[in-house]
Amino acid sequence: MLSPFPRNRRAFYLVLVCAVTSICFINLLVLTHTVDDSVIRLPNLSLFTATTNPVIGQYAHDEHPIGDLMKEANRKWLVYDNSRSTNFRRTVAKYREKYGRHPPPGFKEWYMFARKKKAHNVDDFQQITGDLRPFWAVPPAEIRQMAAELQSSDGIAGVQIRNKKVVYSPVEGWRVETLRESINRIVQYLPDMDIALNIMDQPRVMVSFEDTQEYLRTEALTRSLPSDAQDRFTPDMNYLYKKDSNIEERADPSWTSIAGKLYMDFAKESCDPHSPARNENFALQDADRLYKSSSGGFVTNFTASSDLCTVGPVLGKNHGFLFSASSNLITRKLIPVFSECKVSVNNDILFPANMYFLNDKRYVYNSRHDYEWQDKADTLIWRGVTSGGVQLADNWQHMHRQRFVHTTNGTEMSSETVSILSETNLGQYRTYPSFNPSNFSLDHFDVGFTEAWGCIPNCSFYDDVWTYKKPKDFSEQFKAKYLVDIDGHSFSGRWRAFQLSKSLGIKATIFREWHDSRLFPWRHFVPMDNRYDDLYGLMTYFLGLDSPASPVDALSTSEPHIKSHDFEAEVIASQSREWAQHALRNEDLDIYLYLLLLEYGRIIDDNRDSIGYSGDGSELDDFDDQYPFSPAIRDIVTPPLSFTDEQ
Ligand SMILES: *[C@@H]1O[C@H](CO)[C@@H](O)[C@H](O)[C@H]1NC(C)=O
Ligand SMILES: *[C@@H]1O[C@H](CO)[C@@H](O)[C@H](O)[C@H]1NC(C)=O
Ligand SMILES: *[C@@H]1O[C@H](CO)[C@@H](O)[C@H](O)[C@H]1NC(C)=O
Ligand SMILES: *[C@@H]1O[C@H](CO)[C@@H](O)[C@H](O)[C@H]1NC(C)=O
Ligand SMILES: *[C@@H]1O[C@H](CO)[C@@H](O)[C@H](O)[C@H]1NC(C)=O
Repeated sequence: MLSPFPRNRRAFYLVLVCAVTSICFINLLVLTHTVDDSVIRLPNLSLFTATTNPVIGQYAHDEHPIGDLMKEANRKWLVYDNSRSTNFRRTVAKYREKYGRHPPPGFKEWYMFARKKKAHNVDDFQQITGDLRPFWAVPPAEIRQMAAELQSSDGIAGVQIRNKKVVYSPVEGWRVETLRESINRIVQYLPDMDIALNIMDQPRVMVSFEDTQEYLRTEALTRSLPSDAQDRFTPDMNYLYKKDSNIEERADPSWTSIAGKLYMDFAKESCDPHSPARNENFALQDADRLYKSSSGGFVTNFTASSDLCTVGPVLGKNHGFLFSASSNLITRKLIPVFSECKVSVNNDILFPANMYFLNDKRYVYNSRHDYEWQDKADTLIWRGVTSGGVQLADNWQHMHRQRFVHTTNGTEMSSETVSILSETNLGQYRTYPSFNPSNFSLDHFDVGFTEAWGCIPNCSFYDDVWTYKKPKDFSEQFKAKYLVDIDGHSFSGRWRAFQLSKSLGIKATIFREWHDSRLFPWRHFVPMDNRYDDLYGLMTYFLGLDSPASPVDALSTSEPHIKSHDFEAEVIASQSREWAQHALRNEDLDIYLYLLLLEYGRIIDDNRDSIGYSGDGSELDDFDDQYPFSPAIRDIVTPPLSFTDEQ
């Protein structure tokens, strides 16, 4: 073994240089009173230290499908990171290529805002455009009128922007307050508008597939790039919410409550007629092939794994939200409702969840409570309440959280078997269909409900079913290497903290959020099927499985064996952490919301076809020189020193 010193010494010198530099700056600031500190800023030391430590080691040389999935994710990631725009010229050109329109008015100011706040990627906002696309088929005045009228509608609140200020809302509550505060940080850049805010946990808008297709066709026809577009919003448009005015009931959304009903009975109308959801003779295996690996059943397409048109037939009676949601008020009309999450069949307009803006210790990550990977336990942890849907003595087996707690319970699994992959000689893997996971689960899982909630008439039917465990706050949870994140009766607000932590996040969900396109499954987190049938395959891969006998040939029927892939787990955990520090910051929430409201401001503008930013981007050449983009995310994996010692 060669000595590890050269690398460490280099790092030491780097830190030394940084320290000296910052001391000079401090002196400069302290000694020269006239210095304007908006010009010479005190550099933050964090700018000079790597946000995440390199992970030293090597990938396993074997043929496990997870290795391939990680490689493929990294390939896609490199394409993503290397193709980002790194100046304003390129950003606007790319916008036009992608959407066939000019960027909205105010885009230049948004770009400067985003760059000053160190946005790593200024192109990845297709969720916004995607959510708003169908509205190009609706006249702007009609959208404004709907947004105004919706403010007195069931489960909706309003946030209004007038004359660069957020004004009074008729319905109050923590969601309105939080959104109002967020918008206050950017309101100076925004035109007048009404925002119809969904104050329920569940998404609201579910337009039929055929109608949505029609809207999208219309949108495609409205695309144009007028060379004389005005870079400003139209002032003083009518049909915005006015206090005390009698609101006409022209655009009644006709809310339908489908609480307690089977969601897929309604959702399937929003699916492609060729999808599994609308074809009764689509076999389970056919749907699985669309998103699971043939070997091991791991999720190969995370989007499809949460696409109700694909998984709905199987999941419809196995997820609380789909089986018996506690509240669910939907409309079939295309109306402009802003929601924090939605499922694949919804037309709600997504914005970064209010939860993320609250300083709530249940959701906010603090590195003081975290541990280094090697100090964490080889444990998978999950805690939660029995939320998901309304529970009765004879229906709770259909809820997802309950299924998860059952699947991870060593006692309950003592008489069940699951399918996992077992290592044969030469690093190959084959299916081992009858693994008894009981002992594995007892050794590694710490899963349980903290309390029962949401039962009719009361939760006493659970008395002999669960043992309630103590809640664990983040400082306790982060002692485990593996953190599972599953839905409640809506999306899970812990996910951002999990991504930021040094532990590895494992996620199963049917909900979509603002950040989905920037998080790469198998690079930034481990995706899990909502059926949880891949759970033991995943966990035996990462944690390894010793069998009393040594690995034997492919035909043997002896006990399964898998070597541990702790290194792979640490790599994904570190990549997620580093990326979250670039892409899931509070600033990133503001940057997203700001662009969303510019785009929304355009779509409700009577002159939406002739406004936008039509320049070539050259006026920000100097700005771009002044604010260079952060470098591409480097590869966090460092092979052991003995292989790459460079002197
Ligand atoms: C540096 O730190 C200060 C205080 O923690 C913070 O307000 C500022 O935004 C930071 N600047 C950069 C460039 O990160
Ligand atoms: C993943 O699934 C989505 C939704 O079903 C589909 O649109 C997409 O093309 C799939 N991606 C790949 C790489 O197959
Ligand atoms: C689980 O562990 C116990 C105690 O070590 C052992 O007796 C039992 O055979 C194990 N069960 C399985 C299925 O390996
Ligand atoms: C809960 O409901 C059961 C069944 O209806 C009833 O027998 C029991 O008294 C209830 N318990 C409480 C604490 O209300
Ligand atoms: C696991 O299952 C056993 C048997 O059903 C039950 O007694 C126990 O409370 C369960 N454990 C947890 C943590 O729910």
